[in-house]
Amino acid sequence: MDFYRGMWYNLSVKILGIETSCDETAAAIVEDGAKILSNVVVSQIDIFKEYGGVIPEVAARSHLEAMMPVVNKALSDASCTWDDIDAIAVTHAPGLLGSLLIGTLTARTLAVLHNKPLYAVHHLKSHVYANWLTDGPIPEFPLLALVISGGHTQILYMPGHNQFEIIGTTHDDAVGECFDKVAKILGLSYPGGPSIAKAALKGDASKYKFPHPKVEGLDFSFSGLKTAVLRAVQKDVGVPISYPSHQLMGLLSEQQVSDFAASFQRTAVEILAEKMEMARREHPEVKSIVVAGGVSANEELRKVFKDAFFPVPSLSGDNGAMVGTAAYYEIQSGVKPTDPYTLNIYPRVSIEN
Ligand code: KG4
Ligand code: ZN
Repeated sequence: MDFYRGMWYNLSVKILGIETSCDETAAAIVEDGAKILSNVVVSQIDIFKEYGGVIPEVAARSHLEAMMPVVNKALSDASCTWDDIDAIAVTHAPGLLGSLLIGTLTARTLAVLHNKPLYAVHHLKSHVYANWLTDGPIPEFPLLALVISGGHTQILYMPGHNQFEIIGTTHDDAVGECFDKVAKILGLSYPGGPSIAKAALKGDASKYKFPHPKVEGLDFSFSGLKTAVLRAVQKDVGVPISYPSHQLMGLLSEQQVSDFAASFQRTAVEILAEKMEMARREHPEVKSIVVAGGVSANEELRKVFKDAFFPVPSLSGDNGAMVGTAAYYEIQSGVKPTDPYTLNIYPRVSIEN
């Protein structure tokens, strides 16, 4: 392996990707940005199910416990030693501060200890690059990416590798957050996305009508949809709007829960589809549509966005493989490694820079 001016000159590049931005402790080894040699994800979902959401302090402590065993398992699953690793990549921003610190401090220490170049990768970039982890066709540029996670809802224009322009974003809640909050109203377990999708299978999606937000251009708003569901549930069970939302679940029948889940899910998917259709009309030159982030696991969405690229379902959520792939394309684009001693001093919060 030769490393010169930010470019690799050998054919096989193995990158260790580390991800700890929220409640998954993850590490993976990816070869040439495409082939997964190992992919270890330890989820904290079982801890947070009880609370209905992530507690940042608890998440950071869990990362601390799991981090090194996860990294060591990623190495052993890939039959790699540190000598085989060409670079370390880590999620740098955005995310929960305590969680990010565990991943970045681990990566910084390992980079110094094993003398490896370190790449600090933006989390949303990694989600987009999960679409390159496939044996099938890969997206072509220019492309439009819909990034939908628990913290973000953005439409990105990508003229080429590692080039991002945000052309649409949410004014308030992210769509994943909306799934999580509606699930809570309906008494479904955390995380809300998969619970709503499951309940919706037995529901009538045309039972309740929810308004689409009137937001200009390619931007989104999801907080109104969450409130619209809350008001409809209160009306259906005959309680005033002052009635506490956390007490509603006991008043709903299983069929009502399913019907609300299906109607909400359909509305959320329609809103995303409308904005992507508008983006496509504004950018007729695009060759691919890419969907990324935790919400991209949603089956209804996959049915509606027929011609779009989606990550393989197991890579829709947070994982280290997508971090390794994103770093690979940063390297190919001439990005220099980060100084492991100064990382975190100037966090990059936007994907655009
Ligand atoms: O990308 P991700 O794993 O973490 C963040 O970067 O935020 O996304 C998590 C979000 C959660 O809000 C979760 O409810 C949602 O993705 N999600 C889904 C599905 N699976 C996960 N939303 C809708 N349908 C799903 N099947
Ligand atoms: Zn994520």
